[in-house]
Amino acid sequence: MDSKEIRDKFIKYFTDSPRNHKEIDPAPLVLENDPSTLFTSAGMQPLVPYLLGEVHPKGKKLVNSQPSIRLGDIEEVGDNRHITFFEMLGNWSLGDYFKDEQLPWIYEFITNELGIEKGRLWVSVFEGTKDVPKDEESYGIWKNLGLPDDKIIFYGAKKNWWSMTGTPEEMNVGHIGGPDSEMFYDFGEELHLHENSLYKNEMCHPNCDCGRFLEIGNSVFIQYKKVGEGKLEELPQKNVDFGGGLERITAVLNGDPDMFRTDLFSHNIKILEEKYGRKYGDSEMFDRSFRIVADHLRASSALISGGVYPGNKAHGYILRRLIRRAVLHAKILSPKGEYLGLPIPDLSENKIPVPVKSVSEIENVINEESGKFAKAIDRGMKKLETIIDKGTVLTGNIAFDLYQTEGFPLELTLEAAERKGVKFSLEDKKQFQEEFEKHKNLSRTTSAGVFKGGLADDSPEVIKFHTATHLLLASLRKVLGDHVIQKGQNITKERSRFDFPNNEKLTDEQVKEVEETVNKVIAENVPVKFEVLPKDEALKTGAIHGFNEKYADTVKVYYVGENLDDAISREFCGGPHVGSTGEIGRVKINKQEKIGSGLVRVYMTLEK
Ligand code: ALA
Repeated sequence: MDSKEIRDKFIKYFTDSPRNHKEIDPAPLVLENDPSTLFTSAGMQPLVPYLLGEVHPKGKKLVNSQPSIRLGDIEEVGDNRHITFFEMLGNWSLGDYFKDEQLPWIYEFITNELGIEKGRLWVSVFEGTKDVPKDEESYGIWKNLGLPDDKIIFYGAKKNWWSMTGTPEEMNVGHIGGPDSEMFYDFGEELHLHENSLYKNEMCHPNCDCGRFLEIGNSVFIQYKKVGEGKLEELPQKNVDFGGGLERITAVLNGDPDMFRTDLFSHNIKILEEKYGRKYGDSEMFDRSFRIVADHLRASSALISGGVYPGNKAHGYILRRLIRRAVLHAKILSPKGEYLGLPIPDLSENKIPVPVKSVSEIENVINEESGKFAKAIDRGMKKLETIIDKGTVLTGNIAFDLYQTEGFPLELTLEAAERKGVKFSLEDKKQFQEEFEKHKNLSRTTSAGVFKGGLADDSPEVIKFHTATHLLLASLRKVLGDHVIQKGQNITKERSRFDFPNNEKLTDEQVKEVEETVNKVIAENVPVKFEVLPKDEALKTGAIHGFNEKYADTVKVYYVGENLDDAISREFCGGPHVGSTGEIGRVKINKQEKIGSGLVRVYMTLEK
């Protein structure tokens, strides 16, 4: 069964009677107009308002397949089961059915519809905390479905609690989540006991990382909201949020734990084999590089299609990082360690689950960024060779230093050492690994604010700027004309930066007029409201929206005014925003510049 068949079967299973779900469009992958999020990282993310109780126009039972990006595991990409860009099959109950329906349904889908062998399934359930009871209900349901006692495993919140930001302790205040129950496919004990497995002598269990088990689906019972430090509150409705990785389910049905051998990746692996003259499957080290290049190029193509360009911040930074890692591993794959370029993956329908903007543009962006980086890497290699030639002993610390300063991976260092006949011992590798782990934990913590689950800053300052930027756009249109549209936007705690088409910079008078228009609306303390509308209706309101963006089939329109019809500003936007404009304080435009032909960039701050 290929991935398309699996996706179609999932949607059909849940839309068919007696389940009667309604299919919804996936949300866009790249969320440009939402300062609280970088990417869609789970199917539930665009549905949060409805999980909290808002009425969804399509009802209480929904299903779709959502392209998602997760960066938390980026260092893990390279084994046979971690990827950054994936598709999540999802079904939701918005306060409708609960555990009694969800678990039997998903079990029936997996075992009957897909035909996955019952004897290979294990499940996990939540063991409870002092505030949330042990999930005896799910345990009982799984038992009734026929799962043997020893294949229903209880775990704590680290493994069996889901929210966008982690366990009940870690969760951001305002976020929702709950206990969950995961399903695992057992590829067999032999795998765990594989000769080279790190885990050879340890007890294996479904959440063991050895590769024997593959998680194929998670039913989250979203039932709680974090309302303060250490404080969870029950939501007014009990929700179900199921997510199943399409790539992983396809691997199971392919009878091979390696996701890169499924139809979603095999064509891209083939392109890489041809380009670099190597065979996938011949060596563990090269396989790792094959997978990293295949995953990162697919993810990069999706990001570029979503309008992202390489840069030093937010979306652009992630794209840059993906392309650069692809370059490093492409060098490892090439016969002499030279850089042969990155071949563009197959972007035809069903091979990438997002609308592809333009293959040639994707090619150009990837070639430009990768070419620049390849040159930088050559400099790094020279540096390493000089170190070796000078007779300096190559230690794990030196290798790590090169990794940190030049982005030079251990594989390249090892290769250079081998070429020069220099010793790099197991001890050195261990030293490198220790430094690397320390660094990884550190960078995880420092980036947690922005990248945890794809979430960005939603501090009060950022929220104020977000609303003020809507007012800025409305005022620029009033003063300069309707040719003003948003071409770029970036908000920090200190300022909002806004790009729009205009032939010249604004005159001093125009700047003053725009500022005054914004400040007048603020002084009048106008309410800021939103409505959730089917996309067609939302378009009819004349609300401003990105023309190239793909929106979900229901959208939020934020407006400043008493009524949507005669509002001062109307925009498609995910929020959040202030409740009324008076909360913003006064704004000031304190800098502007011309950026490229016909584009002007203005910077706006809040007056203290
Ligand atoms: N929201 C759950 C997840 O992403 C299903 O794993």
